[in-house]
Amino acid sequence: MKKLLVTGGAGAIGAATAKLFAAQGSHVVVVDMHADKAEEIAKNIGNAAIGIGADVTDAAAVRAAFDKARDVFGGVDIVVSNAGAAWEGKIGELEDATLRKSFELNFFAHQSVAQNAVRLFKQQGTGGVLLFNASKQAVNPGANFGAYGLPKAATLFLSRQYALDYGSIGVRSNAVNADRIRSGLLTDEMIANRSTSRGVSEKDYMGGNLLGLEVRAEDVAQAFLNHALAERTTADVTTVDGGNIAAALR
Ligand SMILES: NC(=O)c1ccc[n+]([C@@H]2O[C@H](COP(=O)([O-])OP(=O)(O)OC[C@H]3O[C@@H](n4cnc5c(N)ncnc54)[C@H](O)[C@@H]3O)[C@@H](O)[C@H]2O)c1
Repeated sequence: MKKLLVTGGAGAIGAATAKLFAAQGSHVVVVDMHADKAEEIAKNIGNAAIGIGADVTDAAAVRAAFDKARDVFGGVDIVVSNAGAAWEGKIGELEDATLRKSFELNFFAHQSVAQNAVRLFKQQGTGGVLLFNASKQAVNPGANFGAYGLPKAATLFLSRQYALDYGSIGVRSNAVNADRIRSGLLTDEMIANRSTSRGVSEKDYMGGNLLGLEVRAEDVAQAFLNHALAERTTADVTTVDGGNIAAALR
């Protein structure tokens, strides 16, 4: 399963993805703003994985991370652009700075990662796989979640734009559309508060979908792996949310 670079690799979904690909034999580059955690995860998953500290909103740091990946493993074949964070607030009252900060991370950083991926794919003459972590928010806005959903919607579109512009050189670009995963973005404390405020148990809150099952970081990782393996699939969005008709793509 070749060479993978994953951003936000020290977080729940990123680390699960790094682990799953390494178990399939990939050489993995774990990129995260928390260098120590990225290195620790790389060490734990084995298969010569490396951890790199980089803020993905810093274009020079992203470029350097890709160059290091190329120098260490001889290239990159699959990129999971996953780093993200959520900001809340009612859209009409939001500080401009908050929305811009979210766009920097949840849109422009994906563009910077994808640009560098394509730069290496072209140098290698290999094509490659681009995978984006979008969100249910990209298609079905949650109340007070505009700052998060707007750049995610743009990132979903970005994935299709790369599929269109680079399909001819063998680049496939796909996105994953997940919801309600226990992680640094949806902490145990947040889950406890939200389930209490809705008057449901934590189990029912986390399994509040058609299947009635909690969706785990490993399920999202599996969707990325499926995309990496699906050699005739591009411009696709895979939903990993246990089933949510209101958020289903049309
Ligand atoms: N948790 C969910 O319910 C959910 C649902 C849909 C989509 N997502 C998306 O999944 C992705 C991963 O999030 P997660 O749920 O695993 O949360 P997480 O907080 O566990 O992981 C996010 C990781 O991104 C890293 N990161 C944040 N800003 C960064 C930056 N500027 N540069 C480099 N690294 C940075 C963090 O250090 C962290 O390790 C995000 O893009 C998120 O929007 C999450």
